[in-house]
Amino acid sequence: MAQVFDRSSNALARFSLVLTGLIVIALGVALDQLQRSPWVTRQGQRPDQPVPFSHKHHVEGLGLQCQYCHVQVEKAAYAGIPPTKTCINCHAQIWTNAALLEPVRQSWATGASIQWIRVHDLPDYVYFNHDIHVNKGIGCASCHGRVDEMPLMYQQSTLQMEWCLNCHRNPGKNLRPVSEIYNMAWAGPSSDKPVWCTSTVKGGATAQNVNCTTTNPTAGGPEVAMLQMEGATPAGTAKTASDGPAMGVMVPASYEKFSSQEDLGKYLTAQYHIRTPNELSSCETCHR
Ligand code: HEC
Ligand code: HEC
Ligand code: HEC
Ligand code: HEC
Ligand code: HEC
Repeated sequence: MAQVFDRSSNALARFSLVLTGLIVIALGVALDQLQRSPWVTRQGQRPDQPVPFSHKHHVEGLGLQCQYCHVQVEKAAYAGIPPTKTCINCHAQIWTNAALLEPVRQSWATGASIQWIRVHDLPDYVYFNHDIHVNKGIGCASCHGRVDEMPLMYQQSTLQMEWCLNCHRNPGKNLRPVSEIYNMAWAGPSSDKPVWCTSTVKGGATAQNVNCTTTNPTAGGPEVAMLQMEGATPAGTAKTASDGPAMGVMVPASYEKFSSQEDLGKYLTAQYHIRTPNELSSCETCHR
């Protein structure tokens, strides 16, 4: 070959190989970026809704709870969008002439529901349900962000498979007491702000009977949970068959103190019976 190609073409060939390699890598990176870009994931976009409904005003301003409008979120796969009736509860009296609310009045008068544009929309081949997440200690804000600070709703997370898996591989870092699900500002325990938890049922606790508090229970506050001792009988009373169901004795439950999310996460993972990362990231969990 040396007769046909001189030494310089050797260098040229090497150079073009390197160049091709670089172009391929650059294209790959660009496609990957595009795949994750908000343009594809719809992150951060605020669609033009028929009514410019503000979560900031209604949640932060008026102090309405999420369940007031999204009534099914703890019980069903879908959180649901409230019917016009929910708005009319207040807007029959408040802002009754505002042009902004014309579509609400129209909908109420005609019975045709308001055509909200969906902000979050997973592909149909993905199985997702709210109830299990909410009932196992994942707060709204962990997935939807600070909704209470959103004048107009937008999608904060990518909702891509990688995002779901990130949590499913290590749910502990996102688990919180179920009593804090709707707390938009929950930041987890720290040494300044510890959390105390106890299980109010002996053995086989579920999320519902784990009781957590942010005020020190050993100081004897009103939030102290009582543990029902099954089968125990009050001192001095003889237990006979005619006593009916065993009278449980109530004793103060013993609390564990947590000052880091890591420790709380481990405790709740066990108490809530969270499946293993392997089970939670197997394909059938989300693709059925
Ligand atoms: C006064 C009623 C009301 C309250 C209270 C309320 N919402 Fe909403 N929510 C709506 C309405 C109406 C929509 C549909 C319009 C929109 O997307 O802004 C909506 C939409 C949403 C969506 C997006 C739905 C979609 O299309 O993907 C999320 C997420 C959401 N709400 C979460 C929350 C959370 C979290 C809270 C509590 C912090 C909350 N909402 C409190 C009425 C309410
Ligand atoms: C608990 C009572 C209550 C409910 C329920 C309620 N609103 Fe309101 N809404 C208000 C009040 C009060 C204001 C005035 C807020 C202000 O000026 O700060 C308001 C203001 C508004 C405004 C004017 C813009 C803004 O956010 O200030 C719109 C639009 C609106 N509401 C839409 C809705 C829709 C749509 C629903 C039903 C999903 C709804 N509201 C449910 C009490 C309510
Ligand atoms: C584990 C993450 C996660 C948590 C926690 C979560 N959501 Fe969602 N939410 C989603 C996803 C994903 C969708 C889109 C579902 C779809 O497209 O089928 C969604 C959709 C919604 C919608 C639109 C209507 C619907 O059901 O599709 C509302 C409203 C909503 N969420 C409210 C809430 C509220 C209120 C809470 C807290 C009580 C909450 N979400 C907690 C992930 C979450
Ligand atoms: C912030 C953490 C978190 C995120 C994000 C999250 N999940 Fe989960 N998911 C959980 C936890 C915790 C459980 C409960 C596990 C258990 O009980 O073993 C769960 C359970 C599930 C289950 C099992 C339901 C059942 O009934 O068996 C499905 C399906 C699921 N998630 C789908 C999704 C999908 C799809 C996404 C993304 C769109 C997602 N999850 C995002 C934490 C999360
Ligand atoms: C925790 C839930 C979850 C698990 C577990 C999961 N997926 Fe997905 N998967 C999703 C979601 C959500 C999407 C939609 C992503 C989007 O819309 O960008 C998706 C999309 C896909 C797609 C469509 C192509 C794409 O990337 O958009 C394929 C193929 C896929 N998943 C295969 C798998 C396989 C194979 C497994 C098992 C190794 C698996 N998934 C496990 C949630 C999950």
